[in-house]
Amino acid sequence: MKKILITKASQIVTPIGRSGRPGQGMNDLTIIEDGCVLIQDGKILKVCKTSEIDENWLHGADIIDASGKIVLPGLIDAHTHLVFAGTREDEFSLRMAGESYLTIMEKGGGIQRSIDATRLASEKELYDLARKRVINMAKMGVTTVEAKSGYGGTLEDEIKQCKVARKLNESGPISVVSTLMAAHTVVREYRNDPEKYVKLIIEEIIPRVAREKLAEFCDVFLEKSAFNYAQAERVLTAAKANGFELKIHADEITNGKGAHLAAKLNAISAEHLLFSDREGLEAMRKHHVTAVLLPLTAFSLREPYAKARDMIKNGLVVALASDFNPGSCYTYSMPMLMAVACLSMHMSIEEVITALTLNAAAAINRAHKIGSIETGKDADIAIFSCPNYAHLVYHMGINQAHTVIRKGEVIVRNGEIV
Ligand code: NIG
Ligand code: FE
Repeated sequence: MKKILITKASQIVTPIGRSGRPGQGMNDLTIIEDGCVLIQDGKILKVCKTSEIDENWLHGADIIDASGKIVLPGLIDAHTHLVFAGTREDEFSLRMAGESYLTIMEKGGGIQRSIDATRLASEKELYDLARKRVINMAKMGVTTVEAKSGYGGTLEDEIKQCKVARKLNESGPISVVSTLMAAHTVVREYRNDPEKYVKLIIEEIIPRVAREKLAEFCDVFLEKSAFNYAQAERVLTAAKANGFELKIHADEITNGKGAHLAAKLNAISAEHLLFSDREGLEAMRKHHVTAVLLPLTAFSLREPYAKARDMIKNGLVVALASDFNPGSCYTYSMPMLMAVACLSMHMSIEEVITALTLNAAAAINRAHKIGSIETGKDADIAIFSCPNYAHLVYHMGINQAHTVIRKGEVIVRNGEIV
């Protein structure tokens, strides 16, 4: 029986709950000073003060002295496009010079270029690229990442990406949750007949990925020059019938009524939401759809941020994620995400913590298992080298993750992968 005892933490900091925390409740963190966590067989067994440690807990335990450090639930990056080949720094330069993301895409650049590079890469090459990324994520305190396909655009290439996600999950160091996003862009071969591509997704890709259990969620890019409302609805309805939980890239660049559709289909989450209308967001609240905000994409695209303050005031469950991808957001930096969410999107530090832990877990349907430090949950924990949680944002942009534990195994010690 594998045992870990974290002792003398200057603060244990965690939201509490087995579902996402809506609205102002995101500010209710439990803080235990001089805290201790007992972990056994991958699960959290006790959370208490160091003074309450029972002698028996010490026997055979790997003791982690967390003096001067804070202990948080492992961070969850609930929205990334993790598996791809190639980069698009030339497009980044064009955007810096004033070209828009949509114009670049309409001219044949954008997602299609990453599709071309990803199709050429072997499964092994994609795995090696993505594994370097998950190792860096782990070093920043991330214990779970969601990974979308969508740089394949054929049955074989979408499957190839999903298989890489599955293999990464098996090999660790962190948990990888797979999302099918064949409806990312209308691929070149179908530009003149988008309906044919929608048909391929519905009739072949979705059933096959479901049969092989290669993804748990299905996502669609509902956007001008990508998929329209009716197409998104058909793809997602087919996905639901095949057992997928649903996600939508909604209202990222224009208001395509994505928030409304997410509510209508009882999606687990809707992402971006930069241009959503009030009614759409209210419908999401009523249908318990988690709002996944991606401020690093807004930052990178120089778009206005999603209205996090309004969403929290109106009682939505708000999560944060990186949206790591080679086009609109080439970063998975957690310190940067925390700083931008807090300083530019005006979320409180407490809200940011809840958004990257329990609410991010809700966005991937795992709030009952991960996302907080509570008895019975998986022992996914991140320890940061700072005396209190304000330093996570105050010491902005600096990675302070020191020790990271996933399912009761130490994966990062002293900032290095074990
Ligand atoms: O979330 N919007 C669609 N997907 C990504 C961008 C992907 C890309 O440009 O390669 C996003 O912004
Ligand atoms: Fe995205």
